[in-house]
Amino acid sequence: MNNADFQEPKGRDFIEQARREAPSWEAALRPLEWNDFTGQAKTVERLQVMVDAALQRGGTLSHILLSGPPGLGKTTLAQIIGNAMGTQVRVTSGPVVERPGDLAGMLTNLEQGDILFIDEIHRLPRTVEEYLYSAMEDFRIDIMLDQGPNARSVRLDIPRFTLVGATTRRGLLTAPLRSRFTLQTRLDYYNRSELAKIVERSAQLLGVPIESTGARELARRSRGTPRIANNLLHFVRDYCEQRGDGTISQEIAARALELLEIDDYGLDELDQRLLRCIAENYGGGPVGLSTLAVAVGEEPHTVEEVHEPYLIQEGFLQRTAQGRVLTRRGFEYLGIMPPKDQQGQLL
Ligand SMILES: Nc1ncnc2c1ncn2[C@@H]1O[C@H](COP(=O)(O)OP(=O)(O)OP(=O)(O)O)[C@@H](O)[C@H]1O
Ligand SMILES: [Mg+2]
Repeated sequence: MNNADFQEPKGRDFIEQARREAPSWEAALRPLEWNDFTGQAKTVERLQVMVDAALQRGGTLSHILLSGPPGLGKTTLAQIIGNAMGTQVRVTSGPVVERPGDLAGMLTNLEQGDILFIDEIHRLPRTVEEYLYSAMEDFRIDIMLDQGPNARSVRLDIPRFTLVGATTRRGLLTAPLRSRFTLQTRLDYYNRSELAKIVERSAQLLGVPIESTGARELARRSRGTPRIANNLLHFVRDYCEQRGDGTISQEIAARALELLEIDDYGLDELDQRLLRCIAENYGGGPVGLSTLAVAVGEEPHTVEEVHEPYLIQEGFLQRTAQGRVLTRRGFEYLGIMPPKDQQGQLL
């Protein structure tokens, strides 16, 4: 953990300064307080209740687990919680914490009330995870020093801290770890009007004029995901400067997105390839995840965590015990007739 992960105590000045000094356009768009954050009403209210109660009591916030597909705002929320609590947020990620000693080093460097944000917490090695249990519960860890005959266990007290865990795969967390989070809350895909609002806010921060129909066009094709909306906006802004008149209209947005091969449903090239592969190579399925991943040339976990959730939510695909199957809507999307023997039983 280095100083770059370290944040100064918060306040209005801090927030203004953070915005001015954001290292990239992405960082400049990141909401820093509740008011900037659109959507996820239930999660936001749950978090606000906890934060306000902790502030009123003058106590430490209890541990929170945020789950949901990539790009929906987990990291953003962890920062907002820190800003609201006026505490530091130390950021790390599951695969980075390789040994119990790494965790011990991090925990003992925390100050009372700090937030430790562990991204991809499902990828924390088991041996490290076990140390985390007592840290979360009793705010101490028993760590083994030396090996062989000199081995001895040392008990370290650590400051009361708040663990905010983020995961795209809540199901992969062990039950003991999961149960130590007081609040477990799931982020869902955003609806169109929420995304349109996010796009309009981002456009304003980037200083690019946008018509509300233009914002809606982008929202419609962003797979329910703010990160994608912002990425698309970034491209559309360039497109509009180069090929348009400087204002993002619906027509300009649509033309730019066509150039990116993002279709009307927001499906990108790999989404389309996945659906087509199940239909054409496997007669609509069922087909196993790893077979499918090899067939489209992508990592299984990317297919499973990034692409499938949206395809499933939109009703193009289903996961069954036998494997992935294309739905009726999936076939319709591709404009392909389902195999005759399947037509009656399609989902
Ligand atoms: N509710 C929101 N309102 C406005 N912008 C948002 C919102 N949620 C996310 N964003 C934007 O989307 C970007 C991605 O969000 P974030 O990095 O928090 O996602 P994440 O859930 O942590 O993703 P990952 O799982 O990949 O780490 C942020 O930079 C932020 O600008
Ligand atoms: Mg993140």
